[in-house]
Amino acid sequence: MGSPVNKRILLGVTGGIAAYKSADLVRRLRDAGAEVRVIMTSSATEFITPLTLQAVSGHPVYRHLLDTDAEAGMGHIELARWADAVLVAPASANFLARLAQGRADDLLSTVCLATEAPVAVAPAMNQQMWNNPATQSNLAAIKKNAVRIFGPAEGSQACGEVGPGRMLEPVELVTLTSELFATGELDGLTVLVTAGPTWEAIDPVRGLTNRSSGKMGYAVAEAAAEAGAKVILISGPTALADPARVRTIRVTSAQEMHDAVHRHAAEANIFIGVAAVADYRPARTAERKIKKTEARLTLELERTPDILASVAALRPAPFTVGFAAETENLEQHARAKLENKKLDLVAANRVGADLGFASDDNSLLLVEREGVTELPVQPKTKLARALIRHVAARYRAKNSAPVHALRRP
Ligand code: CTP
Repeated sequence: MGSPVNKRILLGVTGGIAAYKSADLVRRLRDAGAEVRVIMTSSATEFITPLTLQAVSGHPVYRHLLDTDAEAGMGHIELARWADAVLVAPASANFLARLAQGRADDLLSTVCLATEAPVAVAPAMNQQMWNNPATQSNLAAIKKNAVRIFGPAEGSQACGEVGPGRMLEPVELVTLTSELFATGELDGLTVLVTAGPTWEAIDPVRGLTNRSSGKMGYAVAEAAAEAGAKVILISGPTALADPARVRTIRVTSAQEMHDAVHRHAAEANIFIGVAAVADYRPARTAERKIKKTEARLTLELERTPDILASVAALRPAPFTVGFAAETENLEQHARAKLENKKLDLVAANRVGADLGFASDDNSLLLVEREGVTELPVQPKTKLARALIRHVAARYRAKNSAPVHALRRP
């Protein structure tokens, strides 16, 4: 079962009496943990005011295509990219017709065309209009384009008739929308993920660390949970909240991360090392705060255990994925890590002034023995989902192969 926690849901409201329920729907989606933005068609504004939906969503309502102010803020392409899912509720007969034709003559229809996110519609109309062959053939056309149809329910209608065409209740729409995020690709599997930096103490108040925010690792853990896996996240110190549906274990140093990983490695089918683990730690940690009595101070450093390589060396080893942050020669460095550490896959990302550690966006080059796959720049949450999709497919392929093909070199 999927969850809407931290998901970005773009709610389209079209003209129909059920639009009065949209305010409740927004509130319930937000209560369930989603971030919601609303697009209204002009006829929707006859039924409910933009101010109401602005108040309940906490964001201005988007209404016009090519409105100079709106496009300067979040234009139609940004909105289409922003969304993790688009839900049109209520969806009028007219809107279904326009969606079936692939129209792009208002903001909502344009965003539906421009988005890569799943699109779902909750039809709401008079039962004659619903049963009309024209509406039914429009529905068949949009289903063919992978648009999900939520409902409608049967019952008494605002027009006094009885039959199919009532919009599903907001609580049912929240459940169905949540299921859009459950892919089932990792059902029944356990995924172990490391994330964040480590902290190697010099003395009780000082330490060696790095700029990793943990965002990518947390996004990977969430994407794995979304795909149905049992997820254990071993996290270094970060400012992030524990992801929903993920067992998060907080550690400080590379050694603690190593020990926590090995307590759980035997149960993991897949290991993904996203943490920026310190390669060196102070050879000795001072018990008391070091005083500046000397003119010069030398810190002796020693290597930390390589967690990723130690997991890949287990027998049997989980499907093991490493990360490589590089400023240049991405593929070459990643391939060296793949071979040296005997990994199944290396996800390499370019780090630089505007990409990498603190940023919300990133791209990845997936390097495997079989070849290279590029995942273009996108929000880390989406990138993590694409990585998990790829890893799930590779894991399944490897584990359905004959046993002799599973042996490592
Ligand atoms: N890693 C690890 N344990 C360590 C160090 C790194 O598990 N002690 C993992 C990271 O989580 C990441 C990958 O190894 O998945 C990064 O590889 P690494 O060789 O450490 O990268 P760099 O330090 O950037 O490599 P280089 O030695 O080329 O600088």
